[in-house]
Amino acid sequence: MEKLRFGVIGTGMMGCEHLRNLLPMDDVVITAVSDPNDEPLSWAEMTLGDRWAGVSVFKDHRNLLASDAVDAVIIASPNHTHKAVLDDVLSTDISVLVEKPMCTTISDCSAVVKQSQKRDAVTWVGLEYRYMPSIAHLLNQLASGIIGDLKMISIREHRFPFLVKVDNWNRFTANTGGTLVEKCCHFFDLMNFVSGSRPTRVYASGGQDVNHLDEVYNGQRSDILDNAFVTVDYANGVRAMLDLSMFAEGGRNEQELVVVGDAGKIEAAVPGDGHLYIGKRADRSVRTDPVPTEDVGHMGFHHGASFVELRRFIDAVRGDGSVEVDTTAGLWSVVVGAAAHLSIAEQRVVHISELELN
Ligand SMILES: NC(=O)c1ccc[n+]([C@@H]2O[C@H](COP(=O)([O-])OP(=O)(O)OC[C@H]3O[C@@H](n4cnc5c(N)ncnc54)[C@H](O)[C@@H]3O)[C@@H](O)[C@H]2O)c1
Repeated sequence: MEKLRFGVIGTGMMGCEHLRNLLPMDDVVITAVSDPNDEPLSWAEMTLGDRWAGVSVFKDHRNLLASDAVDAVIIASPNHTHKAVLDDVLSTDISVLVEKPMCTTISDCSAVVKQSQKRDAVTWVGLEYRYMPSIAHLLNQLASGIIGDLKMISIREHRFPFLVKVDNWNRFTANTGGTLVEKCCHFFDLMNFVSGSRPTRVYASGGQDVNHLDEVYNGQRSDILDNAFVTVDYANGVRAMLDLSMFAEGGRNEQELVVVGDAGKIEAAVPGDGHLYIGKRADRSVRTDPVPTEDVGHMGFHHGASFVELRRFIDAVRGDGSVEVDTTAGLWSVVVGAAAHLSIAEQRVVHISELELN
């Protein structure tokens, strides 16, 4: 089998994490990287070690795309650059995995959906929580019908504050799309996917109460929301809620996901203890169910999710699998996050029907 030639656009934290996940794969060769900054390029060199020889290095992703060096690229540049980089990538026949959020606004996401539908090459959005082993196992158990008809989804993320990024791009909502778009698109994608429906109404309460309050860059104070409650109603009657705190390092888990049906409930956690907890109403039993991890070839920073995501992406590029996280999923994950920010700003329920999705 010919090796798939990979390029990585943006070699900061996540770009290098993708490189580390690609390294153990023997059907892949990393042929090109691009980043406007020297230091992240040196991180890529360090990450690749003796596999750096032969890698073409670019300061501008357009030169990488024109070089004929790659069959597939990963976009891991800051959120606010995704749209412009995607515009360039989607006009080629190069397959692409774009990190989340697909774009920072609904209108940019809608434009990308249209662009991606006009081409044959794979366009995949990096909403990788679907591939966290415990969450993937929860999705399988749910699909088996074990808890009856799904009614409620709740997700709690209690974690540490945002890390420092290259040029501090993540300190401003204008760059990230806002916390509920930037990172919570992962959770809204899970809600959308698990509910099997479209969101109709969003109500959120949140703010910036603890983190980054003293941080000023070029005379501007950081404006990053650090906690929120978000409720989402779905067209099929499923209800969902997110409980986010980014000043809660002291908890047992970073994420907890609970789905409740009319016959039982399933609890998953990340990192968790390697089990799901499956409860049945009929006999009030709770079963512990081991989480399989045989798909995970490299644990990395994300409990194996990035590795599994990349394997599925590669399968789709080779024609051995379908696109599992497409641009429509990317759009809808941003729609819920953007609606939640609007709800907080205007202190009201936001109806999805009032948003411009075309
Ligand atoms: N899947 C996940 O859970 C996850 C986790 C972290 C970050 N991310 C996403 O990955 C992306 C990168 O985040 P990060 O944490 O690596 O940030 P980072 O600041 O560490 O890296 C971003 C890199 O992009 C470079 N860059 C800036 N403009 C560029 C351009 N036009 N073309 C190419 N490179 C450019 C910067 O120099 C920097 O090296 C973001 O979209 C972020 O949301 C996803």
